[in-house]
Amino acid sequence: MHPMLNIAVRAARAAGKILIKEFDQGQPIDATSKGPNDWVSEMDRAAEKAIIDTIRKSYPEHGIIAEESGQQQGTDNDFQWVIDPLDGTTNYLRGIPHFCISIALLHKGSVQQGVVYDPVREELFTASRGAGAQLNGRRLRIDPKVELKGALLATGFPFKAKHKMPEYQQMFNNLFEHCADMRRAGAAALDLAYVAAGRFDGFFEMGLKPWDMLAGELMIREAGGIVCDLDGGHNYIQSGNITAGAPKVLKQMLPVMRK
Ligand code: IPD
Ligand code: CA
Ligand code: CA
Repeated sequence: MHPMLNIAVRAARAAGKILIKEFDQGQPIDATSKGPNDWVSEMDRAAEKAIIDTIRKSYPEHGIIAEESGQQQGTDNDFQWVIDPLDGTTNYLRGIPHFCISIALLHKGSVQQGVVYDPVREELFTASRGAGAQLNGRRLRIDPKVELKGALLATGFPFKAKHKMPEYQQMFNNLFEHCADMRRAGAAALDLAYVAAGRFDGFFEMGLKPWDMLAGELMIREAGGIVCDLDGGHNYIQSGNITAGAPKVLKQMLPVMRK
């Protein structure tokens, strides 16, 4: 394993331990609102601190962008760690066991390493640029034959920006007519990792942040899938509007979504 991926894995496991400890106790967890329907808890912050401490121990010179604490410049900002310490906060706060930690490492703006860790199921999704994607050490390969007909797609609703619903619903309706079924599981980074694992055949969501997408994006590419924005372009990190999937599924999704 690449030494930087190894550190990302160590950091994700440390955060997972913290999250699971409180989750297992089954007590309601206090949260404060960051915006409409957007919550943060002490656990998001504690997990983030554990991740940053782990990374800083090995790479004190690297830059960091973390969801809760923002950007920290390093002395070598060619390397940037992008961290979502708890993706699926709403699930976590409600005792729904579907959430993850997502950590990506960029070098000069290109994702090199990615980890998505589900501490409930102890599923560790990893990817290194050029070296493939793995789930618990087993190589992931997206089936190039799957098509939109019969596909299981995943999505997220624009719950923080409900004015986007008409546009979103139009795309949903168009796709729903052509696929087998749709899931809204509540953790975008895990949705992407599940696409890499072939559990979902495609995914689309509007308004995501870089820390939701970067690790999963690398995983999907390394597993043989495609990632783009809702128009088939490369602008998804800037716009937050992302589509991803098995190659044939994605090619068939794009024209259907914009019908
Ligand atoms: C959220 C989850 C959710 C997605 C939201 C994200 P958070 O992340 O990934 O599935 O629909 O857009 O913001 O706030 O739980 O880290
Ligand atoms: Ca997130
Ligand atoms: Ca989060």
